[in-house]
Amino acid sequence: MNRVAVLVGSKGRGSNMTALVRACRSGEVPAEIVLVVSPRDDSPAFETAQALGVPVVALSPKEADYAGRLVDVLRGAEVGTLCLAGLMTKLPVEVLDRWPGRILNIHPALLPRHGGKGMYGRHVHEAVLAAGDLESGCTVHIVTENYDEGPIVLQLTCPVLPDDTPETLAERVLALEHRAFPLALKKVVEGDE
Ligand code: GRF
Repeated sequence: MNRVAVLVGSKGRGSNMTALVRACRSGEVPAEIVLVVSPRDDSPAFETAQALGVPVVALSPKEADYAGRLVDVLRGAEVGTLCLAGLMTKLPVEVLDRWPGRILNIHPALLPRHGGKGMYGRHVHEAVLAAGDLESGCTVHIVTENYDEGPIVLQLTCPVLPDDTPETLAERVLALEHRAFPLALKKVVEGDE
């Protein structure tokens, strides 16, 4: 079985992590989430992982030898694929080099539009509305050294409505993310077979 780690953000809700765990447990995705890594142990995502019964480790990018410790914890769990779900910091090159092509990230817009440094959370949806885009959505892509630039695995789209606010658009896109991330993970792990 494909062993997968999910790396969540420090303030993350963990909703994408939850969607991935559920999709794996239901058999929709032939993989197992064997580890969640969170930058802190008092975030909603950390608590959600515990409630789901998934092993979770708190590891902050500010800690000494973050790169070495992250590689150790991922190797210890014999992880073959990594899913970034809300992680706000860049992954150390040691991790990128060890899992090339096996690290997936989800972005709440249709890359290459509205990606890159500073484009996260509410900023993304504000940019979509300011640009007058008629369509938005989410993108799952392979992580490379630069923000939001790796090859796209999958995109799902939704309309932008005339009376949308960043909040209403974010809600519509998040519902899509919960479908897109499991579908993308399935595509990647099934590519191994
Ligand atoms: C999602 O909107 C995702 O696109 C972005 O960070 C957010 C994480 O949300 N990368 P959650 O913690 O999965 O609910």
